[in-house]
This record gives sequence, C-alpha cells and structure tokens, in this order.
Amino acid sequence: MIAVEDLRKQYGGHEALKGLELNVPRGEIFGFVGPNGAGKTTTIRILATLVLADSGIATIAGIPVAEDPHGVRELVGYMPDFFGVYDRLTSEEYLEFYAACHGVPRRRRRKAARELLELVDLADRAEDQVDTLSRGMQQRLGLARALVHDPQVLLLDEPASGLDPRARVEMRELVRELRRMGKTILVSSHILPELEELCTWVGFVDQGRMVAAGPMTDVRNQVTSGRRLRVDLVGSDDDELMAALRAIEDRLGVVAVSIVDRHLEVTVEDTFPDQELLGELVRANIGVRSFAPITSDLSEAFLRLTEPRVEEEEADESDIPSGPPPPLRGDSPREGGSAYPSPPRGGRRK
Ligand SMILES: Nc1ncnc2c1ncn2[C@@H]1O[C@H](COP(=O)(O)OP(=O)(O)O)[C@@H](O)[C@H]1O
Ligand SMILES: [Mg+2]
Repeated sequence: MIAVEDLRKQYGGHEALKGLELNVPRGEIFGFVGPNGAGKTTTIRILATLVLADSGIATIAGIPVAEDPHGVRELVGYMPDFFGVYDRLTSEEYLEFYAACHGVPRRRRRKAARELLELVDLADRAEDQVDTLSRGMQQRLGLARALVHDPQVLLLDEPASGLDPRARVEMRELVRELRRMGKTILVSSHILPELEELCTWVGFVDQGRMVAAGPMTDVRNQVTSGRRLRVDLVGSDDDELMAALRAIEDRLGVVAVSIVDRHLEVTVEDTFPDQELLGELVRANIGVRSFAPITSDLSEAFLRLTEPRVEEEEADESDIPSGPPPPLRGDSPREGGSAYPSPPRGGRRK
C-alpha cells in the first residue's frame, strides 16, 4: 500500500535520507521507529506530498507521490508531529474548517465533524475552544483532522509524543480502531515498547536508512538471536551470582549469561529446554527464586542496532570479556556498505 524505493533527500549538504526503502502492506499498522534525526519526519512528509525527494520512488496504492500529489492527498491522512491549532475555534469548527479544505460540501461538514469527534471521544468537547483541551485531547483532535476526507492510509508522525500514559493508551486504542476500520497506518515513534504492542509490522530507521524491517515477529527474530530468560536467585551476593553463572554458562544450548542488577540474564538457543537450566542450578545447590522468559527485548535489540559503538565501549570497560557478536540471522535487508556491525551482546559468551 505504501512503497518506497531508494529514497534520497539532502538539506544543504546534509543527507537526511540515504536510499531509504519502505513497504507497508494494506491493512497493517507499521511502526516506523528510529532515534531523533533518523529521517522519519522527512520520509513521512515526502509521502504526504509536502516535501519533494531528490531521487527515488514513493508510491501510495501505486500512485507516485511526486507525479500525482493530488491523487495521493485524497488517499492519505497526515498527522504532523507539530501542528498549530487555531485557538479561537471550537473543536467542531476546527474540523469543519479542515473538512472545507478537503472539499467536503458545506451541508455535510457539520455531520462529518460530529462523527469524527465521536470517534476520537471528544463529542462532549465539541463546543469547547481548542486551546482549552488537554494535550491528549488536542492530539486526538489532530488525528480526527487527518481523517476528515476518510483516507485509506494514515501517516501519523509521533502521535504519542508528549502524552501522559493514559493518553497514550487512548491513542493506541484509537489507532487499533482505525485499523479495524480497514485503514493502513504508518506510525512513527522513538518510544519502542509502545509500538511493539501496537504494530503488526515494524521498520527501524537510522541515519536515513532502514536498518531492519518486516512483520513484527520476523524482525524480532532477526535482531534478537535466541530467547532470553531472567533468573532470580534466593541469595543475590556476588559469590552466589558468579556460582550460578559458572554452573550454567558452559551448558550446551546456552548462548550467553550475564549478571544484570543482581539477577542473571541467560540467552539460550530457541529449542533449549528451560527446565534443564533449572536442573543445572539445583544440582549446583543454588536456590532459584524465579525463572521467567524476557519477552520484550526488542527495544534493547534495536539499541544494539542503532548505537553499536556505545554498547561496545561499555562492554570494554567491564571486567567481563565479551565475545564476538553473533551474526544477524536471515537475510539482512541492509544495502551493501552499511555501517552497522552485527549487534554485540554483553556478558559472557562461549
Ligand atoms: N528543513 C530542514 N532543513 C535542514 N535540515 C533538516 C530539515 N528537516 C530535517 N532536517 C535534518 O534531516 C535529518 C532528518 O530529520 P527528520 O526527518 O526530522 O528526522 P526524525 O523525524 O527521524 O527525527 C536531521 O538531521 C535533521 O536535522
Ligand atoms: Mg520527526
């Protein structure tokens, strides 16, 4: 539904996009993730036909954005990262204004505005001035504004930024609701755990290039090799932790063991039978308090991909030697000549 090939954009001499690739299938929620300055907003603005790329192809539903911006605008709803609100307008007037901008006939604007306010849960604020709304409400109003022409595709640039936890949950629910309505959604963020729950596809962008992208589960497997387990011991002094580490580190199928915040983090091969780890600790007379899979380490994996040098420096400072980084599994989506080494892992490796 959204396809981008070899997209390049310079500002002055600075290359904001260096051959970015992006594909979002119809009906998916695509998390466009990357640190500040990675090129997310630039990409989104190109897709929204507000910025012209220097080269490369970007299409929405097969329509090239550079050649048919009007056709694309009919299909796309764009929610910018920062948008001015006209303070003196009420929520309803605000949406009617944007409906007018999109050519919605006058007699239908009021009804459209009402329906959208209902959708984003602002119906009871219809008569209130926009500047009296909370930040979360203003963001939802911004989303409603992106929906006035009932677009098939939504481009949401950091819709959760600056929101408190409750408002974030509301925003997330709203995005899910829009997917159920059949929309294809690209949502950018640097807040990873949020997107991990929300998105069905994910792409990591850094320094103008896509580092890894695909269905959420594929990318998770690609950037994190093996499964990780957290082991909390009954005793948590250094001796106890080291004894536990020694007891399991040479076990076949254990990829790495490290001591983190007074507990152990163990990376095992995908097929490793977890109870054997427990057995090994029990045999070594080590009391285990709890034993649990670490399910959400995508953020960490992503940090390893985008800031490899920082991680390596930290590892060098510790006494624990770190072995060679494991190769990324599967085909790397990166173009040749990429500056990214495989993610290093902390702790002991065999
Ligand atoms: N209008 C602009 N003029 C000059 N440089 C820009 C402009 N917009 C973005 N940049 C630069 O391009 C890079 C990518 O920015 P942006 O697309 O906003 O990234 P992100 O949204 O991921 O934070 C950054 O280095 C930023 O400073
Ligand atoms: Mg941005």
